[in-house]
Amino acid sequence: MCGIVGYIGNSDATPALLSGLARLEYRGYDSAGISILSGGKIATTKRAGKLGVLVEALKKKPLPAGKVGIGHTRWATHGSPVDRNAHPHIDPEEKVAIIHNGIIENYQVLKEELERLGHYFSSDTDSEVVAHLLGIEYGKSADLTDAMERVCQRLHGNFSLVAIAIDSPGVLIGARRNSPLVVGLGQGENFLASDVSAFISFTKRALEIGQNQVVTLTADSCSISDFNGVTQSPREFQVTWDASAAEKNGFPHFMAKEIMEQPKAVADCLLGRMDENGHLTLNEVRLSDDEIRDIDKVIIIGCGSAYHAGMIAKYGIEHWSRLPVEVELASEFRYRDPIITRNTLVIAISQSGETMDTLMALRHAKDQRAKVISICNTYGASIPRESDGVIYTQAGPEIAVASTKAFLTQIVAAYLVGLYIAEIRGIKFIDEVRDILEELGELPEKIERYLETSERLKDLALEFKSAQSILFLGRHVGFPVALEGALKLKELAYMHAVGFAAGELKHGPIALIEEGTPVLVIMPNLNSPLHDKMVSNVQEIEARGARAIIITAENDTSITSPRAIRIPDAPTLFQPLLAVLPLQLFAYESAVVRGYDVDQPRNLAKSVTVE
Ligand code: F6R
Repeated sequence: MCGIVGYIGNSDATPALLSGLARLEYRGYDSAGISILSGGKIATTKRAGKLGVLVEALKKKPLPAGKVGIGHTRWATHGSPVDRNAHPHIDPEEKVAIIHNGIIENYQVLKEELERLGHYFSSDTDSEVVAHLLGIEYGKSADLTDAMERVCQRLHGNFSLVAIAIDSPGVLIGARRNSPLVVGLGQGENFLASDVSAFISFTKRALEIGQNQVVTLTADSCSISDFNGVTQSPREFQVTWDASAAEKNGFPHFMAKEIMEQPKAVADCLLGRMDENGHLTLNEVRLSDDEIRDIDKVIIIGCGSAYHAGMIAKYGIEHWSRLPVEVELASEFRYRDPIITRNTLVIAISQSGETMDTLMALRHAKDQRAKVISICNTYGASIPRESDGVIYTQAGPEIAVASTKAFLTQIVAAYLVGLYIAEIRGIKFIDEVRDILEELGELPEKIERYLETSERLKDLALEFKSAQSILFLGRHVGFPVALEGALKLKELAYMHAVGFAAGELKHGPIALIEEGTPVLVIMPNLNSPLHDKMVSNVQEIEARGARAIIITAENDTSITSPRAIRIPDAPTLFQPLLAVLPLQLFAYESAVVRGYDVDQPRNLAKSVTVE
């Protein structure tokens, strides 16, 4: 939540900051602002609304040119989205400007202390206290790094901060605890940002900043210390995708592009997972074979779509490894005193790798000595860094707020973990695992084949444009798919939508069915014992007036409904990767026909770095 970017170099900072903010807008989009250091002063423009509002304001009244600056795009936590709560925030003497992502938990105490010293606050945010404190500390020593270290020692909660100061025109300073911040190393210019997408069109060289660290940048140097001033050595990495991956490339929305990228994303997720002897290799797992053999339980944690991916993965991991798998919402996990031992494997699933609920659940698991593997799409993010091992999903940047290609690749990656465990524990022979991998390898072509013929979803979206409520039904692996379909429709089209396990219908939800109620049904495979039961469920709801839209395999001739949506046939465990596609498209088209912002739905943000 909140995107932050800082620039220092030999060019004017404003264009670099605006281009960074455009790439970070997915993180929050209820207000935006930038501050530039120019002529010994800090010049600031900030506006409530999307980035476009700020851009227009800057066109009418440009900021003076300056070679160091900071920019912010906000997802409100403390204080409504109005101009005065937008970042950057300035100290009362107008000597420093800061931007912040996260929550300062002790801001009330700090604010009262500052008010007793006569400070007046111009916003309702928690972040403004940082500007005031930094102004005071900077006034004492005129060393911005020292000042930032001292301020950080006083802050409770989560933060990434970037600041500039009028008497240090050649310095850009940042700090982080539990919130993301990366350095981009350019030629005669350097960057600080929430993620690499902000500077990818300038440089692919990046540095990870660790927990509780302060980073001091000039145009051509970078030094890192902890909050006590002890020098730290950062880890450099190369960004593996290029700027075009973070552009729309002719698609009307990032979500449309990301849906169409799913064949490639799944193929890329499977890349490099086999060694020359045909063994499944997950090099990044970093657990010894003995440790894997000792595992007696798996717990998967995640939020939202990542949680649904975990629910699907449970079927595969249990089936292949014969280990019991629990799936838990990360936000609930640590509050129920879960039973965790050294032999528990916790799998944390997160596209962003920064979701605070998942990070906190992961830490709880580690405190209890569990082994933790993460499944993540963002290199160097907090969750993979704090895990014993990581499987990167290799899906490329996902910019639209709604998860699509990340979701599919999370399922694939979790399946790979299940197969890996099964092979090491001797439950599956190498050739059995290879056969399953071959079937997985057929998915990109099947996904592509479905996506090429998916036009019909637009008509359905138009037909149900004004529906009061839409239900989703599934069974077995189709149940989490139903939940995912309902989540997508809620978050994008703002329609009331609920997913059910179809077997539960008769225990209550069937009362919701009335004349015309649209129900999307994920039909189990023809050879599944659940197929006929689902057919009966469809008859039950149609008899009560429901309009059932049945997502079913192309070879399932038993389904003759004119409302059938045909997907390529696949083994039961892989069916979710196909069945979810029409649901993604239905939510997408519904948002478009209802006139909503597909990529940036209201009240949401891509990376949820608060609990
Ligand atoms: C829904 C969606 C969210 C995320 C959830 C977890 O389309 O995208 O529900 O799945 O916020 O995010 P990550 O995977 O970054 O931890």
